[in-house]
Amino acid sequence: MNDQLRLAARLGRIKPSATLAVTTEVARLRAAGVEVIDFGAGEPDFETPERIKNAAIRALAAGQTRYTPVGGTLELREAIVAKLRRANRLDYAVSETIATAGGKHALYGAFHALFGEGDEVIVPAPFWVSYRDMLVLAGATPRIVETPVERGFRLDAGTLERAIGPRTRGLVLNSPCNPTGAALARADLVEIGAVIVAHPGLTVISDDVYEMFYFEGPRPPHLLELYPELRRRTVIVNSVSKTYAMTGWRLGYAAGPEPLIGAMATLQGQMTSNPSSISQAGAAEALAGPQDEIPVMLEEFRWRRDYVMQRLGRLDGVGCVRPAGAFYAFPSVSGLFARRWRGAPLGDAARTCEFLLEEARVAMVAGDDFAAPDHVRLSYATSREALRQGFDAIDRALTRLD
Ligand SMILES: Cc1ncc(COP(=O)(O)O)c(C=O)c1O
Repeated sequence: MNDQLRLAARLGRIKPSATLAVTTEVARLRAAGVEVIDFGAGEPDFETPERIKNAAIRALAAGQTRYTPVGGTLELREAIVAKLRRANRLDYAVSETIATAGGKHALYGAFHALFGEGDEVIVPAPFWVSYRDMLVLAGATPRIVETPVERGFRLDAGTLERAIGPRTRGLVLNSPCNPTGAALARADLVEIGAVIVAHPGLTVISDDVYEMFYFEGPRPPHLLELYPELRRRTVIVNSVSKTYAMTGWRLGYAAGPEPLIGAMATLQGQMTSNPSSISQAGAAEALAGPQDEIPVMLEEFRWRRDYVMQRLGRLDGVGCVRPAGAFYAFPSVSGLFARRWRGAPLGDAARTCEFLLEEARVAMVAGDDFAAPDHVRLSYATSREALRQGFDAIDRALTRLD
């Protein structure tokens, strides 16, 4: 007998997340005793605020350890509704919200509920790695649309208009953006929104997970505040992961038209059921309690953004668009590709990252999987000291290139 394990064909169409792969490599090196400075991680380096931890502890002590409704507790969904009203000036009913196991799972559910074979979904590039693979898993076709570096990686209405074809069913908007830190300004949203309004077959997935980390003055309005008529075909995806430094809690949420939210709940009911009851209690406190931590984190990220831009600006062969939000910089490193390391030109972003890891002990993510092969993603969700040490090490390593 010849035992053979056969995996489903769909696994051949996706690959492991490039960002998680870097996190794994950093953990492996550290376990082996190698000191690595991590500019790869996509998570805030802050602790979850005490008030949120305490809410979860209270929930445990009170025995909130059982299944909750699939879409989340009433307490949490009311907190989501209140947050959307307070922070985004958008009115949703509890029945138009769902709590999920992270923003990632909300996106997964939304894509699966909305799209299938033959459906094209526009994903502006550079994009967060998971959109493409999630859409492929849903059977849909990601339609990758370049956003020019000259416009600071911001999608413009003309490019969007030209990308819409007879099979286009969706558009993913992620502002501020992972990996570029680009953020759509009010004027961009006004123009892009007009195109969406003119194409009634288009559903918008608005990934707002970085919304609170915006450095250029007051936050731009939400697309739906500018175009309330798009509410019928928009799903908002958000999570407590980044905003409240709660990545490990795995708690996200979505808001949208009731039939879509209902479909996502049906899917969720057959996949994971409710997200963790303890995490839900923490998230309810996060969203409904005092929001004092956010400006503190925002100011720190702004300081680091400025510092990173200053250090990148001193590197020959490296150029970087000034990020308006999130906690990433996305420098172009193609000016280094001709430089030689171990007898061969660096050649591409992946080998540049390998060089930086080997010679500077600094981890970053190559741009290939974000559809930007000339770039690397640098996360500054790490301490000021780590940033200083990392850039000093990069400076020294670059002098060793031929
Ligand atoms: C653009 C974007 N959307 C969604 C997520 C999902 O975050 P989570 O599942 O931790 O809520 C991430 C995480 O890195 C992200 O960068």
